[in-house]
Amino acid sequence: MKKAKIFTDIHFEISEVDKRLFGSFLEHMGRAVYEGIYQPENKFADTNGFRTDTLEMIKELGVSVVRYPGGNMVSAYNWEDGVGPKELRPVRLEAAWKNIEDNSFGTNEFMDFCEKTSISPMLAVNLGTRGIDEARNLLEYCNFDSGTYYSDLRIKHGYRKPHNVKLWCLGNEMDGPWQIGHLEAREYGSLAARTAKIMKDIDPTIELAACGSAGMKLPTFGAWDATVAEECYDFIDYLSVHTYFDNRCKTPDDSRDFLASSLYFERQINSVIAACDYAGAKKKSRKKIGLSVDEWNVVYRPHGKIPPDTVWTKAPHQIEDVYSLEDALVVGSMLLTMMNHSDRVKIGCIAQLVNVIAPIMTSDNSAWRQTIFYPFMNCSKYAKGTTLYHVVECDKYDSKSYTDVPTVMSSIVYDKENENLALFVINRDLDEDCEVTVDLRQFEGYSVKKHIVLNHEDIKAVNTEENPLNVVERLSNNSTLDNMVLTSVLEKHSWNVIILGK
Ligand code: AHR
Repeated sequence: MKKAKIFTDIHFEISEVDKRLFGSFLEHMGRAVYEGIYQPENKFADTNGFRTDTLEMIKELGVSVVRYPGGNMVSAYNWEDGVGPKELRPVRLEAAWKNIEDNSFGTNEFMDFCEKTSISPMLAVNLGTRGIDEARNLLEYCNFDSGTYYSDLRIKHGYRKPHNVKLWCLGNEMDGPWQIGHLEAREYGSLAARTAKIMKDIDPTIELAACGSAGMKLPTFGAWDATVAEECYDFIDYLSVHTYFDNRCKTPDDSRDFLASSLYFERQINSVIAACDYAGAKKKSRKKIGLSVDEWNVVYRPHGKIPPDTVWTKAPHQIEDVYSLEDALVVGSMLLTMMNHSDRVKIGCIAQLVNVIAPIMTSDNSAWRQTIFYPFMNCSKYAKGTTLYHVVECDKYDSKSYTDVPTVMSSIVYDKENENLALFVINRDLDEDCEVTVDLRQFEGYSVKKHIVLNHEDIKAVNTEENPLNVVERLSNNSTLDNMVLTSVLEKHSWNVIILGK
């Protein structure tokens, strides 16, 4: 058995974990909205057409905020198409994903969804085919009380009270050459700043996220982030980060390399922080821009490829990836990376929520939890409090893309007020268990409350509609506290959450 040690200190606080780190994303794409959460003809649908089985699972997942309506889709979206009497809503070509969009679900239905699930909305405005005017009108529609054209229109549509949307995205992935209305960095930065200005003039209580680069693989990465941050510095609160990892696209498939993906993510986060701080330094500003990782996950299918038989249909089966245990470990490692950056990363949206690259899947007959559901649910439930700096002493390995990959990865969250300590630990080793010890003498009076494990003998094991409980979390007896030294045995390739309290 391998051995590892974790060193921490009760006083070494990073920052409070923002609960919005455990957010998600719902795009009008494939079966995410239609058949995912909204399917009026389904036997599980409530009187408003929402799938009650999915809604229950979303609540269990503990999602705090949901970004909507895109994604690439927002860059050609007319929000006006999706409000008002359904029979008058136009059917459109949804150009980003080549779907047919009948607009039977729109902004107000999304707000109903948020209310039913106690989720906060994060709305994106279209800066691809539209711009400042559309953004200010949508904001007026959503947040202004009454007595103006758009606020009264909302009231006419049956929503007396304003939606009071506090979080807004200024477009989506605007440096991606695939993006409808794709722009150069200065052009986008200037448009985002001008849009942000009027939006904050209308409602100074909102927070805004501008588009950072769509990914570290793009040639624009870094320079784009610095330029956009410079252009918008005084008006925005966050710069976005998007990141997706895959293994099956690699030939040959390489689990050791894939399990190290969080090292790449770590580098990406540090680079975007550096770009923001560079812009801040040039401005001699005291303000710090936060990061909104508003799309992240494991994904297999290259985004651009749309199966020919699904083109121009409503709610096709699109990018419905089936996740394995190893994907869950990578998802877990990404969550821990964000938690360990809690001082700067304030928002995280796993992409997406239902059916499309999602923790929850549905058919007409049931809904089930993918493997990635579990680490997300554990973090949203137990990562409450302040993350602590810590050092892990463990074996390291080299893989195709990385050197010095720690076999053990962790995050520690301390909830002073409720006297709770949560340790999230991953053993990346494919062959050996690992005994990890942590000196917890500063946590006098604490005891181990539970040790949750997600594992399976086959790292490629998945959950399906036929076998939905193949990979599920379970409780373990592998953690003991002796003289305030915690000893936990981490099974090979496993995700672990160890909860201590008084
Ligand atoms: O989540 C799927 C897509 O991935 C989003 O629409 C886009 O923003 C990203 O490229």
